[in-house]
Amino acid sequence: MTQAAPRSAILGTGSAVPATVVTNDDLAKIVDTSDEWITTRTGIKERRVLEGDKAASDLARLASERALEDAGLDVADLDAIIVGTCTADYQFPSLACVLEAKLGARDVFSFDVNAACSGFLNALSVSDMFIRSGRVRNALVVGSDVLSRFLDWQDRSTCILFGDGAGAAVVGVSDDDDRGILSSRLQTDGSYAETLYIRAGGSKKPATQETVENREHSIFMNGKEVFKVAVRSMEEISRRVLDDAELCVDDVSLVVPHQANRRIITALAARLSIPMEKVIVNVHKYGNTSAASIPVALDEVRREGRIADGDIVLLNAFGAGFAWGAAVIRF
Ligand code: UT7
Repeated sequence: MTQAAPRSAILGTGSAVPATVVTNDDLAKIVDTSDEWITTRTGIKERRVLEGDKAASDLARLASERALEDAGLDVADLDAIIVGTCTADYQFPSLACVLEAKLGARDVFSFDVNAACSGFLNALSVSDMFIRSGRVRNALVVGSDVLSRFLDWQDRSTCILFGDGAGAAVVGVSDDDDRGILSSRLQTDGSYAETLYIRAGGSKKPATQETVENREHSIFMNGKEVFKVAVRSMEEISRRVLDDAELCVDDVSLVVPHQANRRIITALAARLSIPMEKVIVNVHKYGNTSAASIPVALDEVRREGRIADGDIVLLNAFGAGFAWGAAVIRF
């Protein structure tokens, strides 16, 4: 008789954001913007910016230690560390390898996935596959990004949007077949690569004095285009993962969407016909923290006791690539 593949479940979560708060009024002192514009167009009121002597791995380490503690597991229990990030400490090696050393993990394999704002969902989905295959029992899944280091602080169309943070989840074999990650899907459309990207610093256009002078090492974004495709794509993929899990929209207890813009989240909720009371929004506090946004929000709602046993939670994200994804979890 063949044994059913084990289901994976989130055993613990943790998060970390820098202490330094930058408000909309602070930004209005350096670029031509206002608290009113930023609040009405994005819902963001403030964001956290990482202090100069720290890197993405420092936030990732704190979030990971909190997730391990929450799961009641030790670093020695981990088989794999998978990090979603587009702002690793170094071009290489991976942030996951740096994190592995900082945590003192041994006998693990660690790697990054770069799917920008969808990074955590990609990492979660990959961990789910490893666990289902039997190769991994416990994985540390992290989303950590420090986009403040890649912003043009003279470009008001982008510098107001992003913030820094890290979130982590310990994902392991579920002890209950009905609970855990019920379905997940990932999707990309690389034809939009230059709609949201950093022009220089890669192999196509390595750093030169000219690229620095032209401010090509910071985020370029066609925000309107991203907005349109984001809402449509997140709706579609959310419906698909619910179908895969043989669930309908009304079964969803809570949605934890990527936090890029409050207007994207409300448009998505309206298209899915999900009331906003079921949708988590914390973009006002942190801005868009890229791969960190979902695990930070998930950790906050878990710690606030907003997720009960048996609740169906829908996660969905969208970002540069374009890359997007969704997952349905029964807690
Ligand atoms: O995680 C995925 C990555 N990113 C996203 O999901 C972001 C998706 N896009 C968005 O959230 C929105 O498109 C933005 C918030 C980026 C922009 O909102 P918008 O409603 O699309 O504004 P817009 O870019 O069309 O700009 C409207 C006006 C422009 O002025 P004119 O041309 O109408 O005179 C901009 O120059 O607002 C101006 N503007 C600003 N004004 C004050 C742009 N940025 C600012 C600013 N403060 N910070």
